[in-house]
Amino acid sequence: MARQLSRSLGIVVIATALAMVAARADDAPSGDPVNGKRVYLADGCFECHGRAGQGGQFNYQTPALAKTALPVESFIAFLREAPNDMPSFSAEVLSDKDAADIHAFLQSLPGPRPVKDIPQLNP
Ligand code: HEC
Repeated sequence: MARQLSRSLGIVVIATALAMVAARADDAPSGDPVNGKRVYLADGCFECHGRAGQGGQFNYQTPALAKTALPVESFIAFLREAPNDMPSFSAEVLSDKDAADIHAFLQSLPGPRPVKDIPQLNP
């Protein structure tokens, strides 16, 4: 009797723990900015878009990516079939997870300063 009770208690404890893990997974942020920075540098995004995602120059001006307005799904879709001089990154070379992490890294960057905060532009 006691053994049966402790066994069913054990099942309840395990079920509760599993439910807590599932709940935590739902709350988890969609991307890891630390890994995103690593992949952004390792895969060469910075060469065209700048280390701070400030944009740059390739055959023509490359867009700034810091605080990109693209939602993560559109961001990943763009990478899969990129237009013009932007190289495409297939899922084999850049997983959805790593791409979402890059997105999180770009969101963590400060982005451009407002003109009013640049003294030289406000004599
Ligand atoms: C060889 C240079 C080059 C590299 C490397 C590169 N990009 Fe680009 N990227 C471009 C160019 C050029 C464009 C503009 C394409 C166009 O619309 O003509 C662009 C556009 C983009 C855009 C669209 C931005 C917008 O607001 O329109 C995103 C997002 C982007 N790149 C992400 C990345 C990521 C993430 C990486 C690394 C995995 C990367 N790029 C690597 C050149 C590059």
